[in-house]
Amino acid sequence: MNRLAAAVLLLLALTASVTVRGREISDDLIRLPSESSRFFDDEADAVGTRWAVLIAGSSGYWNYRHQADVCHAYQLLKKGGLKDENIVVFMYDDIAFNEENPRQGIIINSPHGEDVYDGVPKDYTGDDVTVNNFFAAILGNKTALTGGSGKVVDSGPNDHIFIYYTDHGGPGVLGMPTNPYIYANDLMEVLKKKHASGTSKSMVFYLEACESGSIFEGLLPEGLNIYATTASNAEESSWGTYCPGEYPSPPEEYETCLGDLYSVAWMEDWQLTIYGLAGLLETDREAQILDLDIHNLRTETLLQQYELVKTRTANDNSAYGSHVMQYGDLPLSKDNLFLYVGTNPANDNFTFVAENFLRSSSKAVNQRDADLLHFWAKFRKAPEGSPRKLEAQKQFVEVMSYRMHIDNSMKMIGKLLFGIKKGPEVLETVRPAGHPLVDDWDCLKSLVRTFETHCGSISQYGMKHMRSVANICNAGIRKEQLAEASAQACVTIPSGHWSSLHKGFSA
Ligand SMILES: *[C@@H]1O[C@H](CO)[C@@H](O)[C@H](O)[C@H]1NC(C)=O
Ligand SMILES: *[C@@H]1O[C@H](CO)[C@@H](O)[C@H](O)[C@H]1NC(C)=O
Repeated sequence: MNRLAAAVLLLLALTASVTVRGREISDDLIRLPSESSRFFDDEADAVGTRWAVLIAGSSGYWNYRHQADVCHAYQLLKKGGLKDENIVVFMYDDIAFNEENPRQGIIINSPHGEDVYDGVPKDYTGDDVTVNNFFAAILGNKTALTGGSGKVVDSGPNDHIFIYYTDHGGPGVLGMPTNPYIYANDLMEVLKKKHASGTSKSMVFYLEACESGSIFEGLLPEGLNIYATTASNAEESSWGTYCPGEYPSPPEEYETCLGDLYSVAWMEDWQLTIYGLAGLLETDREAQILDLDIHNLRTETLLQQYELVKTRTANDNSAYGSHVMQYGDLPLSKDNLFLYVGTNPANDNFTFVAENFLRSSSKAVNQRDADLLHFWAKFRKAPEGSPRKLEAQKQFVEVMSYRMHIDNSMKMIGKLLFGIKKGPEVLETVRPAGHPLVDDWDCLKSLVRTFETHCGSISQYGMKHMRSVANICNAGIRKEQLAEASAQACVTIPSGHWSSLHKGFSA
């Protein structure tokens, strides 16, 4: 079936190539191998070295998708011609051989996808996935590292750097599998420092997380030669995709989401440009691919990709989608993707993007609910009365009650500080676009620690309340006042690892 479909599609594509909506078909489409390799070498000299830092900020099987995203990105960069020595990978690495993983030693990022785990460098895994190591890797500062492979972005002035982060987040914050988390102001300092060190020509930052726009909104200045796109704006969730019970679903035996909506959107776009038709067929959407558009592999720009990814991630403007944003030096968006991700010369001849394919009509799952979905799927599928069913039920209930604890504590604190009526209003205030979340980041961090001392870890879910804590700072509340309110609001902290502070504060 696949071979036949491939042949049909190829024909369709070639026919489309002459008629396709007035888009000009350049000579690049068919290039002699000798010409193409010369072109490739010239470009390579001109662009210096391509570097990438890939980081999954989560751990746990219910977060399968983030590490799957990162592994997939690695495979694409590798296909694009980047060398392992230039790709720094941060992943907790508890998925491939997790007891819940139905295909041991294998990670997939789409329902019919191939293994993306094979060959991924284990630069920073487990407890070496820290903010400190992430920042040191970007800055190329080996002496600042603790543990890990020691690989850093040892770049020069002509080099292009691609950074990709995927995980949970909240206003102004990005999760990590270890404490502390990444705070937007610290990340901005690192990016400014990298720029100031003169060791890059430009940087592209792709960011998937809830409220990811808040990381750059009002914070990333122009003039640093950085172009960033984010999965969502500053005040909305981002979405998991290929989730159990949704369409398209993962294979029957998977009880977890395989990818994230924004991430798979840009990666599947790359995949198309890098692998050509073969990549397209892997994703089992042959039927939707009737309206083929042609992008030249070397001329698809960051901006073109942004537009495609934005359309797909908006998910027909349904409730199951988010607004992809761009920040920083927007003129850089005219750069070719090729500058950052390379390209496989073997596929020069076949460069297709199917617009219908990118217009996804799938449902998606709010990132914050993906853990519940996992425990629920596990519960439903486990045999009646089995220990597995009991375990899943316990996990589900534990997550739910911790969520309620965090939500209720925060609400109560708001009321204690600002009064019953004004409390919710203060906590929910959103500053206008272009303004950072908070003015005093040290205040934010210190209040997060105060909250956690009395109420338990903010955890992956609680990051959604970061704006409330920021607003408490913006209202001029001091640490002592918050401590008093928190002590009143949180008489006990529920047990379980969600609440545990043994790994330290998240700020
Ligand atoms: C590298 O990190 C070390 C340790 O944190 C620090 O003392 C040093 O100043 C850093 N070097 C540069 C060039 O930033
Ligand atoms: C691309 O197509 C041309 C013309 O058909 C062919 O000569 C060349 O070998 C192809 N290149 C690759 C890398 O497949």
